Amino acid sequence: MKTTISHIKADIGSLPGHTVVFPPVVEEVKRFVKENSRNLLSDFFISHIGDDIQITMIHNKGINSSEVHKLAWDAFKSGTEVAKKVGLYGAGQDLLKDAFSGNIKGMGPGIAEMEITPRKSEPFIVYMMDKTEPGAFNYPIFKMFADPFNTPGLVIDPNMHEGFIFEIWDIVEGKKIELPTPELTYDVLAMIGSKSRYVIKRVFTKPSHEKLPDENVAVISTDKLSLIAGEYVGKDDPAGIVRIQSGLPASGESLEAFSHPFLVSGWMRGSFNGPLMPVGMKDSKMTRFDGPPRVVALGFVLKDGKLSGPVDMFDDPAFDGARKTAVDIVDYLRRMGPFEPHRLPDSEMEYTTLPKVIAKLQGKFESIDYPKKGKKLKESTRDMD
Ligand code: F6R
Ligand code: MG
Ligand code: MG
Repeated sequence: MKTTISHIKADIGSLPGHTVVFPPVVEEVKRFVKENSRNLLSDFFISHIGDDIQITMIHNKGINSSEVHKLAWDAFKSGTEVAKKVGLYGAGQDLLKDAFSGNIKGMGPGIAEMEITPRKSEPFIVYMMDKTEPGAFNYPIFKMFADPFNTPGLVIDPNMHEGFIFEIWDIVEGKKIELPTPELTYDVLAMIGSKSRYVIKRVFTKPSHEKLPDENVAVISTDKLSLIAGEYVGKDDPAGIVRIQSGLPASGESLEAFSHPFLVSGWMRGSFNGPLMPVGMKDSKMTRFDGPPRVVALGFVLKDGKLSGPVDMFDDPAFDGARKTAVDIVDYLRRMGPFEPHRLPDSEMEYTTLPKVIAKLQGKFESIDYPKKGKKLKESTRDMD
């Protein structure tokens, strides 16, 4: 029987700034889901990273179920009440609409969900990131499913040798495309390097996969809060679900994609490039410069609708080296202050508060004799050189 894994997350308030969730709020979300999910969910797990609360739900209602989405929405609403009572910062921040209207998409919370045909043993990892955006998943998902230097299974395991299919969304134009790897690897890379525009939404096995043909094996939340709200309202801190083992990347091949702290955009005021640091849940506090951006990995096994686990996968000294490198990169980048490329380029500052600052200066600008395309500078200007 088909089973659905729905992971829905939101920032509904934190302390003291956008640093870390408040345990009583997490408890309230948990209580609400527990008491209201009896005929809906076969299991669930509540976790968190930084200022985001995360709900992982197991059910058989398929993706986009209004009942399941409403449960998560109402749980976040209920948690928001507790957050407001104690005056948490940004209470209810990601609940952008007043009332639930059938589907949580476009309402603020991030969603990653997939309907699967569970295997005899169904291991998967939920990845949660804070202080970054959906495109931050492009690099590691590509590494896991298409880079044999990360995932030797692509070379060694006959089930993986045929490659995978990537569904990529253009989140600016609202279009999507499916591309197979390894055949069209360079086309995939041509797009996903532009991570603020092209994001990997899903990965599928090919019909020729002997153990698991035509299955959705990875999904990423792609909700862009700024595109919904029209202004910066916190980054879109994404989450993803990756199925592992037996013809898919091994647990360690999946985690290996995070062993190099690659640069992502987000961090302070959603306006800076910084390294993605893999951490255990106990270290998922956004302290230094509201970060650095972090990723937590929770490993589960699913059987007959029930979850076992999770294992806190990055809570392991084997990732100390990655963390140390991340902190070294932080020290290096921070010395640049408000300068690019530490600060994001203009095109990505559009939804932050920076345009308001520049707008105030508009009236004070004077024209300069500047060469337009194809025209030469006036003699007088050139004489100044
Ligand atoms: C980044 C983030 C924080 C805030 C920053 C300023 O995603 O949430 O870095 O942008 O703490 O927050 P405000 O403007 O709420 O004081
Ligand atoms: Mg926040
Ligand atoms: Mg957050």
